[in-house]
Formats: sequence, C-alpha cells, structure tokens
Amino acid sequence: MKEITLLDKKFELYLPSDKIQDAIKKVARNMNIDLCNEEVVFLAVLNGSFLFAADLYRRIEFNSIISFIKLASYQGTQSVGTVKSLIGLNEDIKGKTIVILEDIIDTGHTIKKIMEILKPMEPKSIKIATLLFKPGAYKGTDAIDYAGIDIPNDFIVGYGLDYEGYGRNLEDIYQIKN
Ligand code: IMP
Ligand code: MG
Repeated sequence: MKEITLLDKKFELYLPSDKIQDAIKKVARNMNIDLCNEEVVFLAVLNGSFLFAADLYRRIEFNSIISFIKLASYQGTQSVGTVKSLIGLNEDIKGKTIVILEDIIDTGHTIKKIMEILKPMEPKSIKIATLLFKPGAYKGTDAIDYAGIDIPNDFIVGYGLDYEGYGRNLEDIYQIKN
C-alpha cells in the first residue's frame, strides 16, 4: 500500500485518482441534467476546492459563471469574538441558482455559515455540492444535493485537502494512519 509522510503524520492511499475522477464525472452528469435550464453561479470555496472545481467545471456543458469565495475569520468586538465573513463574492446572486462547491463536508459548520450569509442575498435557490462527504460527522440540516463520495470519519489529505497546509498537490487521496 502506497504510503506518504507529511510533517509528523503518515498516510496511506485511500482513493486513487481514477476513483476521484469517476465521482466528479457522476456529479457533472447529474448537474448537466438538473441545472441546464437554470441561471447558475458556481461558488467554489477556497482553498480546498480548487482542484475539484477545476475538474468539475470542465465537465459542465451549459453556460454558467464560476467565482471563488473564502470564509474568512476576523476578530470582532471583544464580546463577539471571532466573526466569519465571506470574501471574494463580487457577483449579484439575486434570482440566480447558486451551486456551492466544497472539497469536503465534515461537521457542516462551514457550509451552514456560508448558507447563512448567502440566503439574505435572495438567490433563487442554493444547491450544495461536495466531492467528499462524511455522513457520520454531519450535524447540519441542509440537504447535500451532490456528494461525490461518502467517506468515514477519518482524516484525509490530497487532491486539494491539506494537513497543516501540506498535501494539496497529491493526485490521490490518502487516509491518516493510526
Ligand atoms: P466542516 O466541519 O464541515 O465545517 O469542515 C470544515 C473544513 O475542515 C473543511 O472545509 C475542510 O477544509 C476541513 N476538513 C474537514 N475534514 C477534513 C479532512 O479529513 N481532511 C482535511 N481537511 C478536512
Ligand atoms: Mg474547505
């Protein structure tokens, strides 16, 4: 079994690149059927989703827009603590069909926060798409419209996903070794 080391951790091969690409093809096929008559704005969530977004978007066959966003933390007033804001969204999304592109949905906190920020902007609808989904960890109530691959609650790296910033360049996805 192929093994890699990133900083202090060892990882073993979990999803080879052909499996990842098959999952992306499946998601793209479903989107091409479901969304071809909609005015779609894809919002890819940086950093993790950059490879997924690039590979998926090349398979989208209808006219649409893509933009890259990031959930940024900043120190609010003393009483509020850390506040999250969305940076990079320059499009007017009112009346549009939004498709959020995530690398992975774990507890769902990130996607919940993004939904809270986008909903008041009055899009027609918001669809959630993720390459990887941890159903056992998900605490959210929003439906995940497009999930490439369901995975267990183990920490993974590769194909955009990182451990302390490392491993995003790996073509395959690796699981942490205990
Ligand atoms: P959430 O728990 O759904 O809010 O996920 C938060 C973020 O944690 C994701 O967008 C990823 O950036 C990161 N994350 C969650 N699980 C993993 C993992 O297994 N490997 C690497 N990053 C992860
Ligand atoms: Mg992420």
